[in-house]
Amino acid sequence: MGKQRVLSGVQPTGNYHLGNYLGAIRNWVEGQSEYENYLFVADLHAITVPHDPTRLASDTYTLVALYLACGLNLNHSTIFVQSHVSAHSELTWLFNCITPLNWLQDMIQFKEKAIKQGENVNVGLLDYPVLMAADILLYQADKVPVGEDQKQHLELTRDIAARLNHQFGKPDQPVIKLPEPLIRQEGARVMSLADGTRKMSKSDASDLSRINLLDTPEQIQYKIKRCKTDQVRGLTFGDPERPECNNLLTLYMLLSGKKKEEVAAECQDMGWGQFKPLLTETTINALKPIQEKYQGIIEDQAYLQSVLREGREKAGAIANQTLAQVKTALGYSLPL
Ligand code: TYM
Repeated sequence: MGKQRVLSGVQPTGNYHLGNYLGAIRNWVEGQSEYENYLFVADLHAITVPHDPTRLASDTYTLVALYLACGLNLNHSTIFVQSHVSAHSELTWLFNCITPLNWLQDMIQFKEKAIKQGENVNVGLLDYPVLMAADILLYQADKVPVGEDQKQHLELTRDIAARLNHQFGKPDQPVIKLPEPLIRQEGARVMSLADGTRKMSKSDASDLSRINLLDTPEQIQYKIKRCKTDQVRGLTFGDPERPECNNLLTLYMLLSGKKKEEVAAECQDMGWGQFKPLLTETTINALKPIQEKYQGIIEDQAYLQSVLREGREKAGAIANQTLAQVKTALGYSLPL
C-alpha cells in the first residue's frame, strides 16, 4: 500500500498570519513524512475578491518561500501553483454542470464575502467552492488538512464527488475518491487580536488584528501590547465569557509547545501585565527560525522557479489523469 495523499493550499493574498500557520501549514509540515503531499498556492481563488495584479506574482513567491521556511520538505511534498495546472479550471467547469446552485448559495463564506462586495458580487465568488472541490478531487486526495473555516467547503466537495459517482460511476467503480477533512482541535480557529469572537483573517482592515508570520519583533510586541483583553485576574481556558483569554492562552500553548494542563497551571494566577511579555517573547522565538530561513529562500528566485517547475510537472501529471477519467465518465470519448 502506498502512502495516503494529502492536498491543501493557501490563497496568495498577502498577510500570512498565525491562523494560516497554526490552522494549516504547521500541520502539513508535522505530518508530511507520513503522507504524499500536494500543497499549492490558490492563485485562482485569490481573484474572486478585488485584487492587485501587480502583487499577485510576488505574493505567490512569498507564500512558496514561507511554505519552505516553515519546513515543507521536497522529498515528501510537491509544491505548485494552481494556475500552472489548467486541469483545475477545466474540472471546475465540468463540476459546475453537476452542482446545484442552491448548494453554493448556502455557503457561509459566500454569504459573508458577498455582503462586502455589495451589488457587484461576481460569479467567481459563488463558484469558489466548486474550484476548491476540483483542487481536491483532481489529486484523489485522502486527507485535506485545513482550519475550521473550510469545513463546509470540504463537505460540499464530498457532496460533489458523491453526486458525480452516483450519476456517472458504477457502484463498484467510483469515478473519484471522497476525501476526509483533517481539522485539528487546537489551532483550527485562531481568533482576532482585536475581538476574540472573530477569526484572525488576512482581509481584516486592521493589521493590529493579526500577527503576520513576517512581522518584526517590534511589530509583534506592539500588537500584543495593544490586543484586546479583560479586567479579570487569573487566566483560564474555555470560559465563554472570556474569548480573548482563551485565544491568547491557546496561542501561547501552541507556540511554546507546552501541554494545555501545563499552561493552565502556569497562568492561572497571572495578570495580563505578566502574561503579555511572556506571549510576546514566545511568539518572537517561534517565528524567528522561520523568518531567518525565509530571508535566505526569497532572495533565490531561480530556486523558487525550479521548485514550481518541478511541482507543476508532478501535479500536472496526476491532475490530467483524473481529469481524463472524469471526462470519459461524462461521455467525452471521441479520439483526439
Ligand atoms: P485561506 O488562504 O483563507 O487560508 C489558508 C488556510 O489557513 C486556515 N486558516 C485558519 N486556521 C485557523 N485560524 C484562522 N484564523 C485561520 N484563517 C485561515 C484555513 O482554514 C486554510 O486551511 N479556500 C482555501 C484555500 C484553498 C484550499 C483548496 C484549501 C483553495 N483550494 C483545497 C484546501 C484544499 C482558503 O481560502 O484558505
